[in-house]
Amino acid sequence: MNSPFNHDKAPFGNSHGPMLTGVFAPVFTEECLSNLPVKGKIPTDLNGVYLRNGPNPRFKPKGSYHPFDGDGMIHSAYFKNGKLTYRNKWVRTEGWLQNDKLGKESHWGIMSSLKGRKDRPMADAANTDVIGHAGKAVATWYLSGKSYFLDPITLDTVGSKDYSRAPGQGMSAHPKVDEITGEMMFFDYFDYSPFMAYGVIDKEGKLVHHVPIELPGNRLPHDMGITQNYSILHDLPLYHDEEALAAGRHKIRFNASMNSRFGIIPRFGKSNEIKWFEFTPCFLYHVVNCWEEGDEIVMTACRFMPTKDINGEINEVKTAKMIAHLGMDSRLWRYRMNLKTGDCHEECLNSEYNCEFPSYDTQLTGRHSKYAYLVDHNPKALHWTGLRKFNTDTGESLGSWSDGPDFCWYSEPWFAPADNQLLEDHGYLICFMWNDKIQIQELQIFDAQNISLGPVARVTMPHAIPVGFHACWMKASQINITK
Ligand SMILES: [Fe+2]
Repeated sequence: MNSPFNHDKAPFGNSHGPMLTGVFAPVFTEECLSNLPVKGKIPTDLNGVYLRNGPNPRFKPKGSYHPFDGDGMIHSAYFKNGKLTYRNKWVRTEGWLQNDKLGKESHWGIMSSLKGRKDRPMADAANTDVIGHAGKAVATWYLSGKSYFLDPITLDTVGSKDYSRAPGQGMSAHPKVDEITGEMMFFDYFDYSPFMAYGVIDKEGKLVHHVPIELPGNRLPHDMGITQNYSILHDLPLYHDEEALAAGRHKIRFNASMNSRFGIIPRFGKSNEIKWFEFTPCFLYHVVNCWEEGDEIVMTACRFMPTKDINGEINEVKTAKMIAHLGMDSRLWRYRMNLKTGDCHEECLNSEYNCEFPSYDTQLTGRHSKYAYLVDHNPKALHWTGLRKFNTDTGESLGSWSDGPDFCWYSEPWFAPADNQLLEDHGYLICFMWNDKIQIQELQIFDAQNISLGPVARVTMPHAIPVGFHACWMKASQINITK
């Protein structure tokens, strides 16, 4: 008999690459479970929902598989008055619905050659990011596409929208919500001129601003930042190889002779109002937070450290390969850009820890925040070995936790403020954790003021939750699907 903790760890066999087996193996049922076993106590001043997106292919892939291909599935933990309900559900994307009718996977993927294919080459899987906006949860995809709206509690897909205005594809993963004004800022990117677009959606979900952003060529940006008055867009030296693109393949190149550039545009600025600042070449997955200090824009981020040869030179091929395979070697970094003088400065905040997938109190998005909660990262693809809290003013590590870095896999944690929050870190840190040694899946809840004490509550899940991507927290007061 199968252990209830152990679903089929290679449901599609072993011929589609390593990202579909073991801790990455998808689940095939949608559940709604309450009264799960708890060690410790679920806090009663924690009301809202933790949502985590990730790839979970429903059908056997047509060819080689990359995690960006898999159908998006949300796993959630809904907290109400000290009780927890776990749910999981696929995002009903166009691709998911097409496959549902056919009873099989009908798309090729990122790893496939797309030349001459008249059938659907790739699906917008909406599997990368999830964020609360205008009362709903919004699921997005890393290569840009539609925005899918979900009921944050039932996880039902309640609509979708194409926010592109020609040219464009829609919205990339990692839009940013200003929780004070309710506006959501986003970027879009594509492989033809002008290569990027930037937009603002108001608190009701209406597109109110959209401008083209001219880049020197195709780029693969991943995130953006906002302050109270500006948005920060990324032009990094990582792009699709043009020759491969013409042949219908996705091959990425890192070019160490190009600088990284960050463009500051007023929230409702025109294309020609953007001011670019140049920094050392790097890739950058995730921004922690940004804010204004006088004339300066401050951006704290996780800087991907380019792979170097023995002579200290950046190895472009190895760097591109590592990024393509979702390996990460990142350090907490601070960028400063002076809008008045044009001066800029960058510094490593902590060289010791390879950390990524940052969370913080998103009520402070665009305003100064002092605390961030990241995952310790094994350079191996998507293996997050534990949680770590930082003071992002100083770069100091303020404590960490892992049940066992060699065999535990954590999801992106998210900070959830306590209902009666008094201080910035007064609240909880929530994540899923799979212990591969004893084959146990838990939801863990930490006191964010001292994560080194370990979880204040551990909820045992009846099945493994595959490794995924991004998470968010929506307070009870932010949930309203009638908007
Ligand atoms: Fe991301």
